[in-house]
Amino acid sequence: MADNQATLTIGDTSYDLPVMKGSEGPDVVDIRKLYGISDHFTFDPGFTSTASCESALTFIDGDKGVLLHRGYSIEELSEKSSFMEVSYLLLNGELPDEKQLKDFSYTISRHTMLHEQLATFYRGFRRDAHPMAIMCGVVGALSAFYHDSTDISDPNHRMISSHRLIAKMPTIAAMAYKYSVGQPFIYPDNSLSYTGNFLRMTFGVPAEPYVVNPVIERALDRIFILHADHEQNASTSTVAGAGSLGTYPFAVISAGFACLWGPAHVGATGAALNMLREIGTPDRIPHYIERAKDKNDPFRLMGFGHRVYKNYDPRATVMQKTVREVLSELKVNDPIFDVALQLEEMALNDPYFIEKKLFPNVDFYSGIILSAIGFPTEMFTVLFALSRTVGWVAQWNEMISDPGQKIGRPRQLYTGPSLRPYPSIAQR
Ligand code: CMC
Repeated sequence: MADNQATLTIGDTSYDLPVMKGSEGPDVVDIRKLYGISDHFTFDPGFTSTASCESALTFIDGDKGVLLHRGYSIEELSEKSSFMEVSYLLLNGELPDEKQLKDFSYTISRHTMLHEQLATFYRGFRRDAHPMAIMCGVVGALSAFYHDSTDISDPNHRMISSHRLIAKMPTIAAMAYKYSVGQPFIYPDNSLSYTGNFLRMTFGVPAEPYVVNPVIERALDRIFILHADHEQNASTSTVAGAGSLGTYPFAVISAGFACLWGPAHVGATGAALNMLREIGTPDRIPHYIERAKDKNDPFRLMGFGHRVYKNYDPRATVMQKTVREVLSELKVNDPIFDVALQLEEMALNDPYFIEKKLFPNVDFYSGIILSAIGFPTEMFTVLFALSRTVGWVAQWNEMISDPGQKIGRPRQLYTGPSLRPYPSIAQR
């Protein structure tokens, strides 16, 4: 049999199916015509064996712990690039030269302000509203304000919407934080970097000047890079599903926010930090490792394990290094970091974790950094959604530009009753 063809036999009939090759990763069996030729569907809840699209953006080899954006490793990008460069790379396919980066950063900075009317939305929320609830509402509401960039068939409109989303997200996120602490909103300062501006809008107050700490600015910028995109993860697939129907860009991205809010997605960062705080001291680690292994105990080691990575999550390595930099800069001696390091070492040497290939993921160390910088736990998911916005818009643009793009509409294995007569109420 040719290696670009697979044969599926059902009963007495065999069907030839094409096999498609990517530039990296497993080949895929193309089953698009299977229903037409065989009257069968495939069954794959959770899409663990299904590629939903072709994409040239991000590649993950979960067994080897590899993450590439447009062919560049996450380790190199987080070491050498800025979040603006990575955003340009994801959107445009290549790293920008000096002029392209300057122009792109300028364009983004021109869209950082929000329509003033949007600020009144916040006052409709309770002060104790979860910032992700506010984000879902305000991001979705952008569709009501920016009518001039919602024709998704026009590449120029798509790019303007993408720039607006990337540019406005720090402003919207910082305002959600300010609202929760009862402080006045701080308007953007376009003389600052993308991340410096966000830090100022979040932690600055009108009463005194805010000086951006370059070490913290770089650390947060790196965290943004680490979360910029992650292939067809749940929230990106949600964005693709909503976007496949031609939905307005801002509404599509608010669907991504709703999905990312889930505790099984990045909500684990806060849970990992809370777990480390609960463990408290290294002598209590063995007790928690035993609990994680006990099938009768629902407890899991938060920040450990991943649907795709069956090796060390490369983002966790960068995070661990960044924790050291941030704690040393802020002169914080957080005992929780020592607990995290020892917990990692103990788990990685434990047969249960070795056998199940459970390694620290991106969420294991990030909570320690974000908390040291001053973000409350509720803001962690907001920060990841802010950075993932770049991946969402880049993937959404790629999908809409694909002439073979289809509406995302899976089928099912129906297990309910077959057609039956309708009983009158007296017969039930
Ligand atoms: N602690 C203890 N046991 C675990 C853990 C853990 N953290 N993770 C998985 N296992 C066990 C699980 O009990 C199962 O055991 P068995 O085979 O005996 O039933 C086995 O490992 C496989 O687990 P699974 O849940 O079937 O694997 P999955 O790939 O569906 O789940 C996961 C991945 C991330 C949901 C899971 O590892 C988990 O719950 N981790 C803790 C939460 C967490 O850190 N989430 C953040 C993920 S990274 C987010 C991102 O990239 O955006």
